[in-house]
Amino acid sequence: KVADLLRQLQKTHHLSLEEYELILSNRTKEDEELAKNLAKDCTEEYYGNGVYTRGLIEFTNYCKNGCHYCGIQRENQEVERYRLTKEEILDCCREGHQLGFRTFVLQGGEDPYFTDERIVEIVKAIKEEFPDCAVTLSIGEKSKESYEKYFQAGADRYLLRHETADEAHYQKLHPKELSFQNRMRCLQDLKDIGFQVGCGFMVGSPGQSSKSLAKDLYFIQEFKPDMCGIGPFIPQHSTIFAKEKQGSLEDTLFLLSMLRLIQPNLLIPATTALGTIDKRGRELGILAGANVLMPNLSPTAVRKKYLLYDNKICTGDEAAQCRACLSRRMESVGAKLLVDRGDAKKAKEAR
Ligand code: 5AD
Ligand code: FES
Repeated sequence: KVADLLRQLQKTHHLSLEEYELILSNRTKEDEELAKNLAKDCTEEYYGNGVYTRGLIEFTNYCKNGCHYCGIQRENQEVERYRLTKEEILDCCREGHQLGFRTFVLQGGEDPYFTDERIVEIVKAIKEEFPDCAVTLSIGEKSKESYEKYFQAGADRYLLRHETADEAHYQKLHPKELSFQNRMRCLQDLKDIGFQVGCGFMVGSPGQSSKSLAKDLYFIQEFKPDMCGIGPFIPQHSTIFAKEKQGSLEDTLFLLSMLRLIQPNLLIPATTALGTIDKRGRELGILAGANVLMPNLSPTAVRKKYLLYDNKICTGDEAAQCRACLSRRMESVGAKLLVDRGDAKKAKEAR
């Protein structure tokens, strides 16, 4: 039954919420293998064996929010806070461009120091110096007016993980001043403005059920983002989730395959969190259906200060080392890093 549903999904890219839940709670090892193989065919059809890269610049670890899972949330006194200047950010881009990155992702906590004016200035400076590159922002929940300013300044994409599509679960993961409605409002505004939008969720976050995961998959199917980032939840020692169990490799890989089957042209990163829970996590992620890697371009001096979770990889490595390392890793699974902006391919008609 699960196998039939997977085959149906590969053809129609559409299932009901109940069918997703049935798959998630009844799948066997064989079903996982099948999902992986079907997903691999979809990835190849759209993207061949090419893997897109984005250079991630973690430009501020100040944050006004208190997300329960996150290591840089405001309550964490252990964190040494930092901000990069515009020049430092541009230096990261210069190095990244030389290494072959054609997308820069500016990611940070929700830091009031970075007003719309400052963000606009940074985006414009990057687009001016690197007109062949895409700029992605990942700076959290803002008003529609703010998002419009960023878009007009030249930002191409925006990443804002929805974290969970289950409202009650969302409330468990976040303090009460953050609402599921506002998160959804942001995602819709971003799409309406014309950004290429990325959403995503953690696998195995505290309180997650097959039902809530089914809602995540159903949400992706309906929302049709351009990108979806998922990675295992990894406890961070100074958060209230310090003693919670981490998300599993198997679950994450299976969900990567499900995402690929739901939306074959989706941009799906094999995340750093996946590489953190398993030495070959990112390679396995690519084999399961991912087609994007987002290595860190931040200066090594600040990398150890941007720890959303424990044991994060690549916090001591230079950008060049990571690019070379990833290139070898991809070769080991028959894939290759591309030098490309890496926009999503146009979707073909469902069969
Ligand atoms: N484990 C795994 N992923 C995490 N994130 C934040 N904290 C953790 C954690 N402890 C993810 C969230 C966020 C993204 C930037 O990182 O999904 O949106
Ligand atoms: Fe950073 Fe391997 S990707 S060292």
